[in-house]
Amino acid sequence: MKTTFDAETVLTELMIPSYANFGGKVHGGILLSLMDKVAYVTAAKHCSGYVVTVSVEGVEFLSPIEVGDLVSLKARVNYVGKTSMIVGIRVEALNPKTGVVRHTNSCYFTMVAKDEHGKPTEVPGLLLTDEESLRRFAEGKALKSLAKQKHQLLKEEFHQMPLSEIKKSIEGERVDIQIIGL
Ligand SMILES: CC(C)(COP(=O)(O)OP(=O)(O)OC[C@H]1O[C@@H](n2cnc3c(N)ncnc32)[C@H](O)[C@@H]1OP(=O)(O)O)[C@@H](O)C(=O)NCCC(=O)NCCS
Repeated sequence: MKTTFDAETVLTELMIPSYANFGGKVHGGILLSLMDKVAYVTAAKHCSGYVVTVSVEGVEFLSPIEVGDLVSLKARVNYVGKTSMIVGIRVEALNPKTGVVRHTNSCYFTMVAKDEHGKPTEVPGLLLTDEESLRRFAEGKALKSLAKQKHQLLKEEFHQMPLSEIKKSIEGERVDIQIIGL
């Protein structure tokens, strides 16, 4: 067993001009790459082994990050299943000139531990030592269940649904259907 704090990781990086998009703000892809990196380090520390990224939930870029900001990504293992771990990441941007810190987003990376043959392998359990860890673990469990439902809806239900029902489900949307023979 390990606590949620044992593998806690903070990654801080300066947003340099080559990270900017055409609008002068930091590219979403740069942030995604940093999130993936901190999720990897955190999960690998928890299980003391090799991990892979399986899914990402909750990534939103609602508040842009500027060149010159110092971005910190604080990550913890919030939830563990048998072979998977949900790493919660809080992203903050500090403007070093003004000292203002903005919480730009929080997201969740599901990482799976792999053995030397590339097969998913069991990870240590979590020892929950405070209320916050308990709440996050329950959230992680809910997230896993919601992700399963979403996966089922998108990958299975829509593929088996009759076209008439699909048409009904998009009534009122800004589309015109002109499929020959429909
Ligand atoms: C995801 C992967 C490990 C699943 O392997 P699998 O042999 O089907 O194994 P399982 O079905 O037993 O799933 C293993 C774990 O992954 C979780 N998982 C599988 N698919 C998932 C998904 N879409 N979202 C979240 N978790 C998922 C399962 O819940 C399980 O967790 P648990 O053991 O804690 O309950 C496998 O498909 C894989 O290796 N994918 C490639 C990952 C990768 O290379 N990532 C880098 C991106 S370039």
